Amino acid sequence: MLGDHMDTFALVIHPLDPKQDVARKYPLLANLLSPHLIHFLSRFWPPVNLSRITGVRSQATGKEAEGWLLACPFTARRMLQMSPQVAYRKIEQTGRMAQRLGARILGLLAFTSIVGDGGVTIDRRLGIPVTTGRSLTVAVAVEALTEAVRSRGIPPESSVAAVVGATGNIGSACAQLLAPMVAELVLVGRRESRLAEVRASVRAAGARTVRISTRVEDIRSASLVLSATNATRPVIEPEYLKKGAVVCDVARPLDVSPRIAQERDDVGLIEGGVLDVPGSADFGFDFGLPPGKAYACMAETMVLALEGRYKSFSIGKNVRLDQVREIAQLARKHGFKVSAKS
Ligand SMILES: NC(=O)c1ccc[n+]([C@@H]2O[C@H](COP(=O)([O-])OP(=O)(O)OC[C@H]3O[C@@H](n4cnc5c(N)ncnc54)[C@H](OP(=O)(O)O)[C@@H]3O)[C@@H](O)[C@H]2O)c1
Repeated sequence: MLGDHMDTFALVIHPLDPKQDVARKYPLLANLLSPHLIHFLSRFWPPVNLSRITGVRSQATGKEAEGWLLACPFTARRMLQMSPQVAYRKIEQTGRMAQRLGARILGLLAFTSIVGDGGVTIDRRLGIPVTTGRSLTVAVAVEALTEAVRSRGIPPESSVAAVVGATGNIGSACAQLLAPMVAELVLVGRRESRLAEVRASVRAAGARTVRISTRVEDIRSASLVLSATNATRPVIEPEYLKKGAVVCDVARPLDVSPRIAQERDDVGLIEGGVLDVPGSADFGFDFGLPPGKAYACMAETMVLALEGRYKSFSIGKNVRLDQVREIAQLARKHGFKVSAKS
């Protein structure tokens, strides 16, 4: 247990791919069990304390925050299939583990932030504040995408941008943020009625021309593609993309087909929302990024801890643009930098 003066946080992750991600912690078990058995057993597995996070240091104050990486052992597919109440119980158990360890704020990542009401119930049940990290994810995804197309000599203001999963929390907020920056927006989702609502909000945010579609193939005219669906399988195939397009894929698991990296070397791929963490951050666990880098949703929790802001932040189903701008500004203040590699 750490002293009260220490800034502390905990991040809740979960396996996306049953084989690959379980092997990061239990190589032998992942080798022995089939993906089907891993999905089944995940229901009975208790939360896991994966590692201690050290060395996250603010460039503004010089103060360090320490944290824990905890696993809620449900896979993404399992969480979508089960009743939110069952998922809440396990996420709450993981949150209580964070509290016992001394965390002062909890980040709910990936599908633990999507399930049910987006953190509201978990926030009510726990004695520490909660965030989903969505606000910083939105800010970083849009910044990384627009910077990457600019660096390829494509001016966003005269280009078409597409948002896949535009009806979701992250997708709709990204669409609103992109609205005044591009010539045309293509919004792709599964429900026309909801797409029409998002079209109204992006027009209000300053979009010039907006098209809506329920077919992902309709992103073919876009030089900028931002994808944020909750699909458990890839939805963007190589043949849907314009020559030289840049795709920022925020979704976990990824929305882009692995064939894009193999077949389309003209396309820029950004695994959206990655930041360089200030200080000498050591996550103590390989969650799939190079050392010193974190997903924006993880970074949001760290920024709030470094700021000493122990209040729930991005929870519920709507991402607010005022919070997107505020957390982006705080992240810059503490020295987090967008890691735009395409
Ligand atoms: N990288 C990061 O830092 C970070 C942070 C947080 C979340 N995420 C990831 O971002 C993604 C989105 O999160 P969210 O909170 O915005 O989820 P969400 O609110 O559930 O939104 C997902 C949206 O995707 C739509 N969708 C699903 N399949 C689709 C398809 N085949 N074509 C078009 N649209 C489709 C859904 O449509 P319906 O409404 O019709 O179901 C829904 O509107 C998730 O993968 C999550 O894990 C990443």
